[in-house]
Amino acid sequence: MKRERAAAIVSRAKGLAAGIWWLLGVSLSAILLFPERSAPAEVSQGAQIAATCASCHDPAGGGQAIPPIAALDERAIVKAMLAFRASENPSLVMHAVALSLSDDELAATARYLADRAKAGRQP
Ligand code: HEC
Repeated sequence: MKRERAAAIVSRAKGLAAGIWWLLGVSLSAILLFPERSAPAEVSQGAQIAATCASCHDPAGGGQAIPPIAALDERAIVKAMLAFRASENPSLVMHAVALSLSDDELAATARYLADRAKAGRQP
């Protein structure tokens, strides 16, 4: 009697585990099949790129030699980056940074940084 109950519990647990794996598989293939439609993928791309900005720009918004970007809005960031890319605003460092990002990457990074600023958190 006891053993039967244990077996029933084990088989229910196995069924649950299989269900979880199935769900994981479905969501993973959705992410792999439709990367461009997945907003979280864009957010994490922005987050990853923004982490490289933080090596120079103080994420807390401080810093004197390097201007803070933590409080800039999305448009201001994109505008500044396009100016750096076109060398309208001459800075060797930021020219290289701006050239290294595609338009999509730049948009994702600017949105991420601006959203973080808006949320009152630091990038
Ligand atoms: C290697 C250091 C370095 C990295 C990495 C870096 N920056 Fe900069 N950034 C600078 C410096 C230095 C300036 C000041 C340039 C100037 O105008 O002389 C600057 C200026 C800027 C400005 C203009 C700010 C203002 O108010 O004038 C923006 C916007 C900016 N960076 C965005 C970014 C973004 C976005 C990233 C990441 C994709 C990034 N930076 C990565 C060094 C860096």
